[in-house]
Amino acid sequence: MPGKLSQPYQPLLLRILHGVTGICAIAAIFTAAWTYDTYDGRFGRFFLPKLEAIEGIHGTFGLWTLLIFPLFVVYAFRRGQKRLIQPDSLQKLSQRGKPIFGYTLHRITNTLAIFALTFALFSGKMMSEKWLPQGELNHIWYYLHLFSWVVLVIMIAFHVLMAAKVGGTPLLLSMMNWKFRTQDNPKLWQKNISEWKANVQISSILNNHSARIFQILEAIVLITIILAWVISLAKELG
Ligand code: HEM
Ligand code: HEM
Repeated sequence: MPGKLSQPYQPLLLRILHGVTGICAIAAIFTAAWTYDTYDGRFGRFFLPKLEAIEGIHGTFGLWTLLIFPLFVVYAFRRGQKRLIQPDSLQKLSQRGKPIFGYTLHRITNTLAIFALTFALFSGKMMSEKWLPQGELNHIWYYLHLFSWVVLVIMIAFHVLMAAKVGGTPLLLSMMNWKFRTQDNPKLWQKNISEWKANVQISSILNNHSARIFQILEAIVLITIILAWVISLAKELG
């Protein structure tokens, strides 16, 4: 239902894509820990009960994340560019103590969260569901997939911490709010997207250098995801 909102405001499409990706990823992280506890536990335990079905549940959450994530990536690199790493981000990181330092770090952690999730999804697609039940715990892709869990947990922690630092609780809550402004009504999305595309074409002509960086980063993530599908399908067929 449309409604009025106090600042900060997040576009509804962002909240949906970010929310579904975030929830699926967190469910994958939790069920991943449970899968590890059920079959492995060499690097410490979470003391979760042994549950063989958890591997399949984890695979399902992983798969959902893999399906929704490309849409979020396209949104973030096209529509949400301002909140990602910028061409001058590294220069701005030298301005310690100034507010821009925190904002820059926040944008970098947003971007790193995308890459951490890409790594987890790619290495997950390289896994075989047979390895752990058969006690095969020394596959390189399994170690990389385990490592991707640690990287993702750390990156999400930094991402949330930086969001809390730059915007406090109101910013965190703005990402979970269901109200939206009249001009953000899903009925107007088609019109809004066409208008935005026209604006992007003009601004990319004016600012070619920064547009190129986002295109390259987006392509790296999307090609990695396509490769994950292609390689895992080829392995299944081969
Ligand atoms: C794997 C999980 C996650 C990924 C990949 C991720 C990624 C991102 C990205 C790329 C953005 C910028 C969006 C844009 O371009 O407009 C963003 C924004 C944001 N994220 Fe996440 N996120 C994740 C999980 C979370 C979680 C669990 C929270 C906790 C509440 C959270 C809170 C936020 C907030 C508050 C913003 C808005 C920041 C702003 O307006 O400057 N994120 N996230
Ligand atoms: C403790 C860390 C982890 C363990 C022990 C683990 C375990 C596994 C196992 C055994 C599989 C093969 C099962 C199957 O394909 O159905 C798998 C697949 C997968 N995992 Fe993980 N995982 C971990 C972390 C993560 C994380 C953090 C993510 C991402 C959010 C993730 C995403 C995936 C994906 C996308 C698949 C492929 C699903 C499919 O093709 O059906 N995993 N994982």
